[in-house]
Amino acid sequence: MNIQIAPSILSADFSKLGEDIQKVEQLNGADLLHIDVMDGHYVPNLTIGPCVVKSLRKSSKLFFESHLMVTNPDELIDDFVKAGSDRIVVHPETCLHLHRTLSKLKDQGIQTGLALNPSTPIELCSLEYLGELIDVITIMSVNPGFPAQKFINFSVNKIATLKVRLNELKLSHIQIEVDGGINKETAPLVTKVGASILVAGNAVYNTDNPLQAIKELRAICD
Ligand code: DX5
Ligand code: ZN
Repeated sequence: MNIQIAPSILSADFSKLGEDIQKVEQLNGADLLHIDVMDGHYVPNLTIGPCVVKSLRKSSKLFFESHLMVTNPDELIDDFVKAGSDRIVVHPETCLHLHRTLSKLKDQGIQTGLALNPSTPIELCSLEYLGELIDVITIMSVNPGFPAQKFINFSVNKIATLKVRLNELKLSHIQIEVDGGINKETAPLVTKVGASILVAGNAVYNTDNPLQAIKELRAICD
């Protein structure tokens, strides 16, 4: 299985985001960029808005995945799409009309993702009805809001259960992403049970060589 590594900018140096992205935008580096958007309401932290994505878009060719940890993503989605996001990841609890939100993104050719918090059941994805509208399901292996948290161990079973469910429903087009506490110890645990996209903030950016950290993460999963 081809494992994709998605560095999260949450652990990058916000005073030089462009440079920190260029460090990982190299051959065998990042497969995509994970942009953590937090509004200080849905999660107890506040990060960036669409204007930052728009600026970063000018200097990066990476696939931008915007993870909207916000109370009302429907209000912000258009701005993040206009700013240059290639995939928008929302939390199902924050969308009053999830089918409408996902359909609107697909109609614009934007990829969609559903992020499930540790306590959010897989059922909230309504896979039987929304499966064709979902590109990625992100299993949050930490409670959202902060970098460098401890991986929640039951996430491995949750990923395995999701993989079985996707196979049962013949939704093999949906990729499983894991977000939170991914490092050289936890990465193989999740890829072994079906995860193919690994978000890594601390394990990539809190190192002397982010590019090398990505290569090592990918190698340990192969
Ligand atoms: C947490 C974010 C994650 C986080 C991952 O709310 O959604 O993307 O940045 O960071 P690490 O890899 O440091 O756990
Ligand atoms: Zn994230």
